[in-house]
Amino acid sequence: MTQDLSIVELDADDPAQVDAAFTLGNAAILADLPDFPPNCRYEHDVRVRVPLPGAQRHTFLAYRGAEPVGVAVLDLPDHDNLDKALLDVLVPKQHRRQGVGRALFRHAVDFGTARGRTSVMGFSVLTDEAGTPIGAAAPFAEALGLSNKLLDVRRRLDLSSADDAALDRMLAESWPKAAGYSTVQWGNTPPPELVEDLALLDSSFLEESPMGELDLEPEKVDAERLRSASAVRAQYGSRRYETGVIHDATGRVVAWTAIRVAKTIDWHAWQLITLVHPEHRGHRLGLITKLVNLSTLRAQEPSVRIVDTFNAEVNAHMIAINEAIGFRAVDRWANWQTSVS
Ligand SMILES: CC(C)(COP(=O)(O)OP(=O)(O)OC[C@H]1O[C@@H](n2cnc3c(N)ncnc32)[C@H](O)[C@@H]1OP(=O)(O)O)[C@@H](O)C(=O)NCCC(=O)NCCS
Repeated sequence: MTQDLSIVELDADDPAQVDAAFTLGNAAILADLPDFPPNCRYEHDVRVRVPLPGAQRHTFLAYRGAEPVGVAVLDLPDHDNLDKALLDVLVPKQHRRQGVGRALFRHAVDFGTARGRTSVMGFSVLTDEAGTPIGAAAPFAEALGLSNKLLDVRRRLDLSSADDAALDRMLAESWPKAAGYSTVQWGNTPPPELVEDLALLDSSFLEESPMGELDLEPEKVDAERLRSASAVRAQYGSRRYETGVIHDATGRVVAWTAIRVAKTIDWHAWQLITLVHPEHRGHRLGLITKLVNLSTLRAQEPSVRIVDTFNAEVNAHMIAINEAIGFRAVDRWANWQTSVS
């Protein structure tokens, strides 16, 4: 079945290839996770030309004859993690178990090893909350020699049934523990005077997050990279809602959270990074930033009904905050990794 397969690197100037990558990726994801937000077409079309700073992106398409049957997206970090290759292989249901995934994996890994990468990583759903397997990523990854180094859980907040009075009460009860701190909010572009502090917090993210057995260096984020990432994301058309906490005595940013809404998916938002500087923990700053940010999201994006977020299964503090807000576990995800040469 695999003899007639051919694999090409996506040409951003070929509209049929750009379209195939979008259609195959969405079909593969939504087949296993019908509740998941689809990828945003607008963002996809820009991103094939303008990748996020910090990694080179290579997208490969598998064809059987003239028919596109699978896609692989390979990110090669270029600021840090220079030995890593981050890979996503996506094959729609009707083309599975015919060797397409394996061929794409081999092709992308060979491409990475030829460029000095010795460790390949992937992220995929494993089971629902009750432990029932979802999709085929686990047997696929295991067949290719990867193992799960860190378990993540996706949690979902349904804003249509959120208890507004309880959230307001929680925020009011939290502020007395946070005397001497105040919040600051922005959208796609961070205020210039905060960028240095935000880059420091961002760089500490992996250092501060539980990493299990995953071998991943903390990202090197400096002010310039943060500024250029914001500028690129703005081109993707997504809207960001961000809240920081300022330590009034020093004027430094000591906590930060972000939510993003894709341009064409109006019902869904991703709750992203939340960080509190280690020296400023214990003042409810994590809960406060998240609640303040969420309330801005709700005021600005009345059609957003669902917010999803990922946490490492062992990240007890962040999970406690999310559960208090009303996020509930939906499914479990694996961070796959193996050495390659
Ligand atoms: C995972 C996925 C990419 C597999 O694609 P595929 O084209 O079906 O994979 P292949 O046919 O090349 O399978 C390679 C091997 O993986 C294992 N495998 C794949 N699917 C399997 C399944 N449903 N049950 C058991 N083993 C399976 C088998 O060992 C298989 O070899 P074999 O067919 O010779 O027994 C595809 O199911 C998919 O797109 N899923 C959704 C996205 C995803 O989870 N991607 C992985 C992210 S890292």
